[in-house]
Amino acid sequence: MVKMLNAAPQGNPALIKWVQEWAELCQPNAIYWCDGSKEEYDRLAEECVQSGLAIRLNPEKRPNSLLFRSDPSDVARVEKRTFIASVKQEDAGPTNNWIDPVELKKTMTDLYRNCMNGRIMYVIPFSMGPVGSPIAKIGVELTDSAYVVLNMAIMTRIGTKVLEVLGAGEFVPCIHSVGKPLAEGESDNGIWPCAPMDQKYIAHFPETREIWSYGSGYGGNALLGKKCLALRIATVQARDEGWLAEHMLILKLTNPEGKVKYVTGAFPSACGKTNLAMLIPTLPGWKVETVGDDISWMKFDDNGYLRAINPEAGFFGVAPGTSMKSNPNAMLSCAKDTIFTNVALTDDGDVWWEGIGYDAPDHLIDWKGNDWKPGQVDADGNAVKAAHPNARFTARANNCPAIAPEWEDPAGVPISAFLFGGRRPSTLPLIYQSKSWEHGVFIGSTVGSEVTAAALDVKAGTVRRDPFAMLPFCGYHMADYFAHWLKIGKAGEAKGNLPKIFCVNWFRRNAEGKFMWPGFGDNSRPLAWVFGRCEGTADAKETAIGYLPTEDAIDRTGIEDEVSAADLAELLKVDVDGWKAELAMIDEHYAKFGDKLPAELKAQLAALKERLA
Ligand code: GTP
Ligand code: SPV
Ligand code: MN
Repeated sequence: MVKMLNAAPQGNPALIKWVQEWAELCQPNAIYWCDGSKEEYDRLAEECVQSGLAIRLNPEKRPNSLLFRSDPSDVARVEKRTFIASVKQEDAGPTNNWIDPVELKKTMTDLYRNCMNGRIMYVIPFSMGPVGSPIAKIGVELTDSAYVVLNMAIMTRIGTKVLEVLGAGEFVPCIHSVGKPLAEGESDNGIWPCAPMDQKYIAHFPETREIWSYGSGYGGNALLGKKCLALRIATVQARDEGWLAEHMLILKLTNPEGKVKYVTGAFPSACGKTNLAMLIPTLPGWKVETVGDDISWMKFDDNGYLRAINPEAGFFGVAPGTSMKSNPNAMLSCAKDTIFTNVALTDDGDVWWEGIGYDAPDHLIDWKGNDWKPGQVDADGNAVKAAHPNARFTARANNCPAIAPEWEDPAGVPISAFLFGGRRPSTLPLIYQSKSWEHGVFIGSTVGSEVTAAALDVKAGTVRRDPFAMLPFCGYHMADYFAHWLKIGKAGEAKGNLPKIFCVNWFRRNAEGKFMWPGFGDNSRPLAWVFGRCEGTADAKETAIGYLPTEDAIDRTGIEDEVSAADLAELLKVDVDGWKAELAMIDEHYAKFGDKLPAELKAQLAALKERLA
């Protein structure tokens, strides 16, 4: 028996047995049951500071905040090391990595053996969704990382209150180890622990709803409630139970007359969900409030509305590019009680990153812990970044000034519109609306985006297809997932309250490579059109690709200098040649799914080809 630092909670013998079995395998020095209290958070934070893994930021500048620097090899999700280990390979589909679950469990069991030597095993009971809500799901994560405990305490609801609701019930078992056992007397010496790339595994067992993660301490690889549970495992549950688990922000949009609509948006990683969820409209009289910035779980209510909840309790947001100009609500969310990872440190104990909105001071410590000066270049003459491009802040949703009062309503909020989009320098217009649900599913299934720094092992800058922004997050065959979306449409059709579906692109560039659309707060302008389309008040013209706003349907008041009428016309035109090239890319993308591709989507593609011919 591995010793316990505190008493195991009573009432769930299966849980206690499971914890002991894993402790026997991993051999930590001791087991600690997280209660979720403030004292616990403060104590673990202080331990991280004492061991040199974290720096406490200046409390006068950033109260109750920490800075961690990860290992340079462990800075983002690792898609090539992420596995959907379904019993049959065909159930994982062509877009997921697959290993036979028996073989993978054997490999990983060998890695887990004694992997927690010299460390504490923390037991984190957590709830995705408000504690006790009928939609919420309970997981228990075992981890040997205090950083993970601190992040989970912000990103999810953790501790004793979760166990009280769990009772003797079932939970999603989640195992995590950084994969760096310590020898007798050895310590981390302030160096972020993790395993080499070929020993990292982010593994999902969809049939048994288990998550095993090894070798990475970072973000979605290690905070197992987020992408692993709330998306990869939840998509499988949602398929079986008739609901949706999506990589979507949720926002509340209020028009000048005080009328409210809720909108979700699925954009790939680092493509603007957090920013849109928190935007401050530049259109007078409009208001946006935040319900969620990354994940949406949606179920039909009795009236056929899809009701969405945000299963998370915090934001794990991209720091670079976040400023008081681009996203003041995010800046205020991380003004206190925040964990920063891989940003730069100022001499007065505050943080700095590229695009924070003011110049860097004369001296910084960069994300690798080195001295940094403005204008510094490396041996090849390239600018050295002070913050890693995927540096992040972990901030409490309750600290967001724009958080909607109903953000924790267990009943969820009724969704009127879905937005799909990515980073597309050309072809894709600023906004258009699908002709139907089926056409909308076609649009979602064909989303493409320039790749960003949010994943480590894909080449930034190239366009890849990222259907529904779910390419790295769908826990089963992507073509079956498309079919599930079509089925949801059929289920909702009769009541007539299905969300309308739109495609957006804030990232068009001109010949000089400059963004043609100001984005951020000005995205309230296309949002106002979405609102109007849902109300039946906004004008549109039907084109080959879908409904586009008419010339004056997007309000330019106040940005006439930035976006001329000609610019807007360019942003809203159907670029037939561009679309023909797009069709060829969609052909290639769809070919991957072979016979599994739903006939409805084949028909949508054929119809689009015909309309563009
Ligand atoms: P994940 O947390 O990885 O899922 O990312 P996300 O989709 O929430 O992306 P986020 O809002 O954090 O934005 C990522 C980057 O895109 C930031 O550097 C933003 O500054 C930039 N960005 C967001 N919205 C816009 C926009 O409307 N226009 C432009 N040009 N850039 C934007
Ligand atoms: C993403 O990559 O989409 C994220 C960050 O939201 S992570 O939690 O690391 O997946
Ligand atoms: Mn995300």
